[in-house]
Amino acid sequence: MQLRLVKIATLNSTRTTNQSRGFPMRVLGFMLLFLGIVIGVSIINMFKIRYLGIVEGAHTLIQSCFKHPDSLQDWIEPPLSYMHTLDDNELFWRASFVPQIEGYPFKRISKIAFMFLTRGPLPFSPLWEKFFKGNEEFYTIYVHTMPSYRANFSTTSVFYKKQIPSQVVEWGMMSMCDAERRLLANALLDISNEWFVLLSEACIPLQNFKIIYRYISRSRFSFMGAFDEPGPYGRGRYDQRMLPEVNIAQWRKGSQWFEANRKLAIDIIKDIEYYPKFEQFCRDLCYVDEHYFPTMLTIQSPFALANRTLTYVDWSKGGAHPARFGKYDITAEFFRKIQQDHTCVYNNQPTTVCFLFARKFAPDTLNILLQNSTQFFGY
Ligand SMILES: *[C@@H]1O[C@H](CO)[C@@H](O)[C@H](O)[C@H]1NC(C)=O
Ligand SMILES: *[C@@H]1O[C@H](CO)[C@@H](O)[C@H](O)[C@H]1NC(C)=O
Ligand SMILES: *[C@@H]1O[C@H](CO)[C@@H](O)[C@H](O)[C@H]1NC(C)=O
Repeated sequence: MQLRLVKIATLNSTRTTNQSRGFPMRVLGFMLLFLGIVIGVSIINMFKIRYLGIVEGAHTLIQSCFKHPDSLQDWIEPPLSYMHTLDDNELFWRASFVPQIEGYPFKRISKIAFMFLTRGPLPFSPLWEKFFKGNEEFYTIYVHTMPSYRANFSTTSVFYKKQIPSQVVEWGMMSMCDAERRLLANALLDISNEWFVLLSEACIPLQNFKIIYRYISRSRFSFMGAFDEPGPYGRGRYDQRMLPEVNIAQWRKGSQWFEANRKLAIDIIKDIEYYPKFEQFCRDLCYVDEHYFPTMLTIQSPFALANRTLTYVDWSKGGAHPARFGKYDITAEFFRKIQQDHTCVYNNQPTTVCFLFARKFAPDTLNILLQNSTQFFGY
């Protein structure tokens, strides 16, 4: 009898200990499940923000989980990340949104979007870093590379995570214009971008940031090269099948390296009227990137164009490619000539400051440019 009682007592005690151990385990399970859901929802939200380009503040993970956009700031902030899975159709559609009320109900600092079209590396990134330093409020950067290229900039670089989703580009083909439109569209997602400059990896800035900003922001015209050239390399590339959208008198040629304001940038990415004509009838030796934007914008907005480019290039040696400058070309006199020996028109006034950028420079010029950038360019 006594033995039995003892047995029951032990049984009871084991049962109670089992129960008291089992209870916290279940609580812990629930807590883990809850944590899992919270993290899951946060991740889904983050992806939503990235893919849809929905503007939300750079808040913490947890905040973005519980917070709905409730202030204007939340609607106008650019996407957290440049990476997204939108295809060009989706991207251009989203980028074409335009406010219908003039002015801005908030303090908008107009920025210049510097858009780099490159195969991969940016050999002059240290020079650009020097140029940008101290002007963080006034610029943004976008880089289009070969899709397989992964840039490797340190977290302190102005180029860190500035790559946009890119596709293969072939020289002189429509895929080149596609890449330029992709750069414009990604930059348009940031409402503070007002001017858009296309640059290559072989480009360098010829003036300091303040001068470039003032020159571009005070110009009444966008710097798209556009001229009517007789002969085989100009009018000779026109194809009558472009009628009625484009006639020969409207046909323009110009450097691919342009600067455009926000309105023209939107006109470029929203175009579906001229695009098919150029895609079909300006192929191979036509070099569509020299004709599509200049011609289209000349037809649509002739009075918005300065008809000249801001990027100096030396064609004097002839051939299909411009001269490339190496380290033995670099002297103070070389830059003085580019900066002063030209005349052009700025806001209907003659000026000698015609170029803000120059190409093409070989990577071996980097050191000498860096060492003498204050003397040459004032930065
Ligand atoms: C990337 O950067 C790191 C650190 O600067 C360097 O060690 C590495 O070699 C770089 N990789 C490439 C592919 O450039
Ligand atoms: C640019 O060229 C167009 C014609 O192609 C002309 O209407 C416009 O006035 C020119 N722009 C300037 C600033 O001269
Ligand atoms: C560039 O700077 C270096 C170092 O100050 C100097 O030795 C060199 O002569 C300069 N080069 C030119 C082209 O001015």
